[in-house]
Amino acid sequence: MADIEGIKELKQFHENVPMETPGFFLRGAGSLDWGMKNRLARIFNPATARTVMLAIDHGYFMGPTTGLERVDLNIVPLMPMADALMLTRGILRTTVPPAIGKPIVMRCSGGPSILKEDLSDEELAVDIEDAIRMNVSALTLQCFVGGRHESRSIHNMTRLVDVGLRYGIPTMAVTAVGKELTRDAQYLRLAARIFAELGAQIVKTYYCEEGFETVTASCPVPIVMAGGKKLPELDALTMAYNAIQRGAAGVDMGRNIFQSDGPRAMMQAVHKVVHNNLKPKEAYELFLSLKDDELKKH
Ligand code: 5RP
Repeated sequence: MADIEGIKELKQFHENVPMETPGFFLRGAGSLDWGMKNRLARIFNPATARTVMLAIDHGYFMGPTTGLERVDLNIVPLMPMADALMLTRGILRTTVPPAIGKPIVMRCSGGPSILKEDLSDEELAVDIEDAIRMNVSALTLQCFVGGRHESRSIHNMTRLVDVGLRYGIPTMAVTAVGKELTRDAQYLRLAARIFAELGAQIVKTYYCEEGFETVTASCPVPIVMAGGKKLPELDALTMAYNAIQRGAAGVDMGRNIFQSDGPRAMMQAVHKVVHNNLKPKEAYELFLSLKDDELKKH
């Protein structure tokens, strides 16, 4: 018989204190289920509603591109500084320590390599069971609005969204800009809105000088800014700062981090820009001094 002695008789129901039903901090996510919100709250810092994602998935069509030749040596040490990691299941399984504790945004599309003219010929390349097995926080794929295989890539996205909704895993749709596709606000607005309308919970898009705020304003889910080609560090920090000030909910940068002379310093400077609104000039000074400290250590 259970020992009932010592059970506290006085119950505290606080009948006069109404239970709160708090909203959710992230744009467009209020009606999502608990698992989906929990995963989004791992990717986006609830204190700032922003994220610094480190994109290292380039090998899925580019092979060992500059800076990603040895992910174990050059990239794994950067991972603790990121809020989230965007990568392929191959790199995750072979190279990333399972104890890393960072949310994973898994690249789930693939097909053509850089040897092909048309990169839009992609298919879904990961089974949802494998993504769940690897405990991912989001699924992601490239979408080619205006591309030769536009319908297929959009259909890939809606399939990923459906399967993600079944298991509470958000999908991040990435705006692909091929050679013939421009990066002006009109194009980026069109693509971002299509992705959100068709169910993506996060949109990743490139930055444009003219009208980026109209891209973020007209997209009902968070937008993270893609870094693009390597720029001088001050320019990359300025671009990240402008994107955030004009409504982006974070960045998902690759080459501008891992191809920098000071990748660790750059990670930290970008983090300050995103989460603390540090101005580009101050962020660049921070980058230089952290890079200097790093050089002195080695
Ligand atoms: C490639 C991607 C990449 O992950 C990402 O855009 C590359 O990052 P960066 O442009 O900052 O090097 O989605 O299609």
